[in-house]
Amino acid sequence: MRRVLVVDDERNITFVIKAILERGGFEVDVFNSSVEALKRLSEPRVPYCAVVTDLYMPDQDGMAVLAHMKDTHPDIPVVMITAFGTVDSAVQALKKGAFDYITKPFEQGEILAIIEKAANTFQLRNTEPSNESGDSRLSKTLVIGKSPAMQEVVRIVRKVALSPSTVLITGESGTGKELVALEIHRHSERVHQPFIKINCAAVPHHLIESELFGYEKGAFTGAVNSKPGRFELAHEGTLFLDEVAEMPLEMQAKLLRVIQEAEFERVGGLQTIKINVRIVAATNKDLAKEVREGRFRDDLYYRLNVVSLLLPPLRERRVDIEDLVYFFIKKFNDKLGKRIESVDSVCLKTLCSYSWPGNIRQLENVLERAILMSEGSILRSIDLPEEVFRGEASLPASSPAAEAFYDGVPFKDAVRKQTQAIEREIIEKSLLENEGNITRTAERLGLSRKGLQLKLKELGLSSQGPRTSL
Ligand SMILES: Nc1ncnc2c1ncn2[C@@H]1O[C@H](COP(=O)(O)OP(=O)(O)OP(=O)(O)O)[C@@H](O)[C@H]1O
Ligand SMILES: [Mg+2]
Repeated sequence: MRRVLVVDDERNITFVIKAILERGGFEVDVFNSSVEALKRLSEPRVPYCAVVTDLYMPDQDGMAVLAHMKDTHPDIPVVMITAFGTVDSAVQALKKGAFDYITKPFEQGEILAIIEKAANTFQLRNTEPSNESGDSRLSKTLVIGKSPAMQEVVRIVRKVALSPSTVLITGESGTGKELVALEIHRHSERVHQPFIKINCAAVPHHLIESELFGYEKGAFTGAVNSKPGRFELAHEGTLFLDEVAEMPLEMQAKLLRVIQEAEFERVGGLQTIKINVRIVAATNKDLAKEVREGRFRDDLYYRLNVVSLLLPPLRERRVDIEDLVYFFIKKFNDKLGKRIESVDSVCLKTLCSYSWPGNIRQLENVLERAILMSEGSILRSIDLPEEVFRGEASLPASSPAAEAFYDGVPFKDAVRKQTQAIEREIIEKSLLENEGNITRTAERLGLSRKGLQLKLKELGLSSQGPRTSL
C-alpha cells in the first residue's frame, strides 16, 4: 500500500507535496481542511501508509491529527510539516509520537526520503512473518529467521526487552543490528515512547556532545537557539547508539557518567536534567578488541555490555535466505508496483549459495534491483546481478569442469580433466598416508598393484612417492 494522506490548509503546499510524492510512486489524497481529514481518518480501516499534516491549521491543528492517529491507527506514521524556526514545536510533535518532521521550505529529496522511510516502517509494522507462534502482541516479530541462531536472538530480545538493562548488539554490516534494536524497543514497556537514534560514525566528533546532550543559546558561535539533545528526546524511551565504537574517547567518559547517573547538563547549560532512558548500542567492530587496543574505555564497555547479542552473518544461516527472499519480494512488489509470485529454483539456489558479504542489506539491494528488472511473475537467475554468480565470495556454484566446458573445451575432455584432478587428489593423499608404499596404497584404493602403477603413469605421478607439493 503506497497511499498517503496529506492535509494542509494551504492549497499550494498540498499541490507541491502531491506532485513530489506522485513522482516518487505514491498515490496521494489531499485535504485542505483538518476537519475533513479527521473525518476520513475516523473510518475503521484507512488505506494509508503515512499521514502528512501541517502543524498550524485553523480548526484542528496538526497535533490534534497526530493525537487522533495515535488513538485510532497507531501503526500509521504521521509526518509533521512545520515552519522554519519552530523547531521546538517539531520536538513536541516527536515527543508525542510523530514519525518525523519536515520544515518549510522543504526539498523534494528530503520529503520523499522521509515518506519512503515512513512507508517502510508502516509495512514492517504490518508484516507478520511466518515464524511467529501464538497471537499475543509480544509474539509478533519483525525479525525473520527460522535458523536456530536467529530464533535464539528473538528469544533473548523478548526477554531483555522487558528489563531496563543496556544491550550491546554486535554483528557484521547489514546483519540487522538496527532492526533488532528497534525490536527491543517495540517489545518493551517503552513502546509508546520515542525510539531515538544517533549514528556515532556519521556525526562529526566535535558535534557529538551537543547532539547527545543538546545546548543552550549562546553556548558556542552559531548556537542562536537552545536545542535539546538525543538524550532528552529519548526520555522514557530508548536511545540507540549506533556504531558506538566510533565514539571519541573523551566523549566515552561523558557518556559513561550520564548512563551511570541518569542526569546531565546541556552544553553551556547550568541546569541538571534528569532522564530515564534505555540504552541499546551497536557496533560491527569487536569491542573487546577495541578495549584491548586502547580505543574504547573498558568501564564503558562493561556498562554497555550488560546483555550482548551477536547477530550471525547470513552465510552462517542460509536456511533463512528463502523466507527473506519472499519477504523482500512482497516489499518490493508493493514499492515498485510489480507482481512477482515466485522464484524459480535455479535463481533460489544461486541466492542460497552466494556468501553475502554485505548480509541482509546486500540481499535486499540485490532483490530490489532484480525485481525492478524482472518481467512476468517469476523471478529468474537472468534478473540477478553478476556479483552473485562470481568470485571466491560464492560457494562453488559450478565445478571447474563445467566452467571449462562453457569456455569451449569439448564435453568429454572437460569431464576427463576434472576426473583426473579428483583421481590425482585421492591417490596422492592415499600415497602420503601409506608413506609411498604402492602395495598398501593399491589395497586402500581397491586397485591392483599393476592398475595403480598404470594410473600413476597416466596422471604423470612418480611411483617413487608422493609429490611434495601436497
Ligand atoms: N532478520 C531480518 N528480517 C527482516 N529484515 C531484516 C532482518 N535483518 C535485517 N533486515 C533488513 O535488512 C536491512 C539491514 O538491516 P540493519 O540496517 O538493521 O542492519 P545493520 O546491522 O544495522 O547494518 P549496518 O551495519 O550496515 O548499519 C534493513 O532493511 C532491515 O530491515
Ligand atoms: Mg546499522
